[in-house]
Amino acid sequence: MFQPTYPIRTPRLALRPVTMDDLDDVYAFQRRPDVVRWMLGAQPRTREQSRLSVLAMAGEDAWRAEGDCLTVAAVTDAGVIGIVELVWRSRLERTAELGFVFHPDHGGRGLATEAATAVLDCGFAKFGLHRVYGRCHCRNAASARLMGRLGMRQEARHVESYLFRGEWADQLVFAILAHEWRAGTRTPPS
Ligand SMILES: CC(C)(COP(=O)(O)OP(=O)(O)OC[C@H]1O[C@@H](n2cnc3c(N)ncnc32)[C@H](O)[C@@H]1OP(=O)(O)O)[C@@H](O)C(=O)NCCC(=O)NCCS
Repeated sequence: MFQPTYPIRTPRLALRPVTMDDLDDVYAFQRRPDVVRWMLGAQPRTREQSRLSVLAMAGEDAWRAEGDCLTVAAVTDAGVIGIVELVWRSRLERTAELGFVFHPDHGGRGLATEAATAVLDCGFAKFGLHRVYGRCHCRNAASARLMGRLGMRQEARHVESYLFRGEWADQLVFAILAHEWRAGTRTPPS
């Protein structure tokens, strides 16, 4: 089993497992059309859907088996302002997939980058990952920029590879390897 030591502390955040007490904070961003705009499903959540989502995330505090998702809440004095997740995609290839969603009220300050950096660090340094990748809709510019800031390179544009709101959409794939992460090619926070 792989479980980080919680909380993971960064200069401005504490990262720790999600709890049911986080429902109000998580619903505050999951209900927003601008947040879910480029995400799979792309529908703002009802409070009940958020409750089920928080319930599922609350159990995701460790990797016990391939396929497990590790989900951490990014917490400031304002409460939970975002979520970062790392899905264990392959045991053999030591590969994981990164995901993130943050409340726009706390955007544009590098907090998502800070949280994702800590999670990637944990994945490479503590879990011994070889590769982490991330995917986004080709028009999700904020997500693509974030992955670029993390030092992930765009490896692919899968043209019309999935159905998004009933239309074929292009998906961008970004990735970074352990030795690249250690080399620290990412943009340092200003
Ligand atoms: C993807 C998402 C988390 C990015 O949020 P963000 O606010 O752009 O990211 P950060 O918190 O890292 O802030 C980075 C921005 O702050 C700026 N910034 C200010 N201070 C900074 C610092 N100390 N360090 C880094 N960036 C800083 C950066 O220049 C950047 O702005 P830019 O993108 O206009 O160049 C957010 O848009 C989101 O939650 N989207 C909805 C969910 C989603 O689509 N998730 C991905 C699904 S694939």
